[in-house]
Amino acid sequence: MLFDLDLIKNVYASFEDKLKDARNTLNRPLTLTEKILYSHLHKDQPIKEFKRGEDYVNFAPDRVAMQDATAQMALLQFMNAGRNKVAVPSTVHCDHLIQAQVGAEKDLSTAWNQNSEVFEFLKSVSKKYGIGFWEPGAGIIHQVVLENYAFPGGMMIGTDSHTVNAGGLGMVAIGVGGADAVDVMADMPWELKMPKLIGVKLTGKLSGWASSKDVILKVAEILTAKGGTGFILEYFGEGANSISCTGKGTICNMGAEIGATTSLFGYDNRMSDYLQNTGREDVAELANQMTANLTGDKEVYDNPDQYFDKVIEINLSEIEPLVNGPFTPDLAHPISKLGDNATKNDYPLDIEVGLIGSCTNSSYEDLTRAASIAKQAKEKKLKVKTEFMVTPGSEMIRYTTERDGVLKYFEDIGGVVLANACGPCIGQWKRHTDDPERKNTILTSFNRNFAKRNDGNPNTHGFVSSPELVTALTIGGTLTFNPMKDSLINEDGEEVYLDPPTGEEFPQQGFDLKEMGFIPPAKDSSDVEIVVKEDSNRLQLLEPFPANNEKDIKDLKLLIKAKGKCTTDHISMAGPWLRFRGHLDNISDNLLQGAVNEFHNKANYTKNQVNGEYDKTPGVARAYKEAGVQSFIIGDENYGEGSSREHAAMEPRHMGVRVVIVRSFARIHETNLKKQGILALTFANPADYDKIKEDDTINVLDIDKLAPGKDVTVVINHKDGATEKIMAKHTYSPVQIEWFHAGSALNLIRKQNQ
Ligand code: F3S
Repeated sequence: MLFDLDLIKNVYASFEDKLKDARNTLNRPLTLTEKILYSHLHKDQPIKEFKRGEDYVNFAPDRVAMQDATAQMALLQFMNAGRNKVAVPSTVHCDHLIQAQVGAEKDLSTAWNQNSEVFEFLKSVSKKYGIGFWEPGAGIIHQVVLENYAFPGGMMIGTDSHTVNAGGLGMVAIGVGGADAVDVMADMPWELKMPKLIGVKLTGKLSGWASSKDVILKVAEILTAKGGTGFILEYFGEGANSISCTGKGTICNMGAEIGATTSLFGYDNRMSDYLQNTGREDVAELANQMTANLTGDKEVYDNPDQYFDKVIEINLSEIEPLVNGPFTPDLAHPISKLGDNATKNDYPLDIEVGLIGSCTNSSYEDLTRAASIAKQAKEKKLKVKTEFMVTPGSEMIRYTTERDGVLKYFEDIGGVVLANACGPCIGQWKRHTDDPERKNTILTSFNRNFAKRNDGNPNTHGFVSSPELVTALTIGGTLTFNPMKDSLINEDGEEVYLDPPTGEEFPQQGFDLKEMGFIPPAKDSSDVEIVVKEDSNRLQLLEPFPANNEKDIKDLKLLIKAKGKCTTDHISMAGPWLRFRGHLDNISDNLLQGAVNEFHNKANYTKNQVNGEYDKTPGVARAYKEAGVQSFIIGDENYGEGSSREHAAMEPRHMGVRVVIVRSFARIHETNLKKQGILALTFANPADYDKIKEDDTINVLDIDKLAPGKDVTVVINHKDGATEKIMAKHTYSPVQIEWFHAGSALNLIRKQNQ
């Protein structure tokens, strides 16, 4: 048994009393989100009715999960926190560092050869500090968490944006940076601004080609890529019960694509079935005894407008399958309009690669539905027209689907099965292409489709859809193919049609696997040695950042004024850079490579104010660092959207960036900047963005008096000698102000543990 039954029993044992307190305090019916949040307040957090979207609240999550790319920096930081063991059950999952090239077996052995130093480091730190370790090939973090650790009514954080996947099993699960994981593992309160709530009422029933993926693609269309920022989405209504637990996971997973803090569903019999089918009958039994506590109150769902900040309603019976993209997950095309829209917008029509699986969509149900299309294709003498790749989410899924002949259906039509790892989803993909300059289209059942996300190529137009639709369109070979009505010509020249997909929620013979690839936390770890070589270019022990103890921050030179979308991928690119995730100095050479310079409309190009010359953005940052020049960054709307990558905050700090001023921030990135001791500000008047010129320096005044709710004065010094004073807002809480003055959150934790 991997899950900690005692932990779940403890959570449930105190749930009732904590809920009573919450009911007495709020004096009204409660949403499920409120039930979970109020029952997970940190012991030092006095209860009151917290103002959504305003109050910072201290929580005590039950678990921490980390993936190998983010775990490196999280654990390097945890090693500096002054503790012997982690304070809550925690796990490390090796999934991001495995590059997809030719297929599972070879790719996995290549990954071991290339990353053994990092894997061994993670294994030894896990052993030393009581952390469960999932080896490369064991599975993708969110699938493994759903299969083993998630439980209804629980709260967890994970160092990956798609931690929210566990909402499919009724958990408040939130993606954070490594520094937040350090807080929780070090028994510090974990702070979050009380999220606002969006209620999503589901009516009707999915059928035919429509799947759970289409529900979230529809929600993304309605709310847009930043419409969920600062919100938790709570799904309810009779339609919810028509969606499997893993389907709910898919919907929650992609809540990250609309910026939502997390998403969740109330406990139901589909979750109970999933727990029982994944060896957690005990958990199902416990949850079944308190179902009323594990869903929102009936009065809430009867009058949602009264209790949620916003309500949207979706009739599942009316959902048409969607294909969203390119470059953004909220640009939805109903399958009946995809061809026309693609032609009108001049998207490349031929699909060059189809990819299914990933943490978003690799349940047994997903793969069997997609396989039903592949099976028909074989029977009807069709093959995929192009490359087709399948990523199982875990070894349990891979083993079971192989045993049941599901994977064979994909291979029969030309599919290649990749390792149980992130691979192309995170840009860990050695894509075979004859011409990278060609505008091209790929179609995936993943979650993200930012430019360059999958293969690092800006010419690639990435679209996301359900696994069954990706499979069908890869067989059709073009965006103009609508499998719901169009025919295809088979090998014999006959006209054939594909029938709607069918799938199975659970394997008839049950899930199985031979090698789990899991190393449980060691009982005695006193003799475990952690090795980080001095000359390693993959790992580097951390030096604390200096304190921010001046009165004013002066003479900061502009590093870059970023225009438009600037995600954490633009700030700290993934792909080949993943290998330096444990080495701050080396990875800093990718700083802001993807950010578009407002003055020149070009990425990776900025002016070095010291010598007046133009260079690549990280080159200028490096030159500033070497010259001891401190700098600032200007950003546009939703700056830092996308992921929990704290490297996107540590790198600028390492390179001497002191202040980031934006029109608006994505939540996780804003917190990460605060944790690393960078001053994160927003323009009080968004139009002041236009006042920043290429040769400007700025002074930020009175930071020694930084106080909650008090605006900060920024003086802009233009090259011609003119100065302008503008005001900037911030969202620092009292403790975050302490982080800032200490130089970083970790500096403060260490001081408190000493
Ligand atoms: Fe991995 Fe992609 Fe999920 S990178 S964790 S499979 S979003």
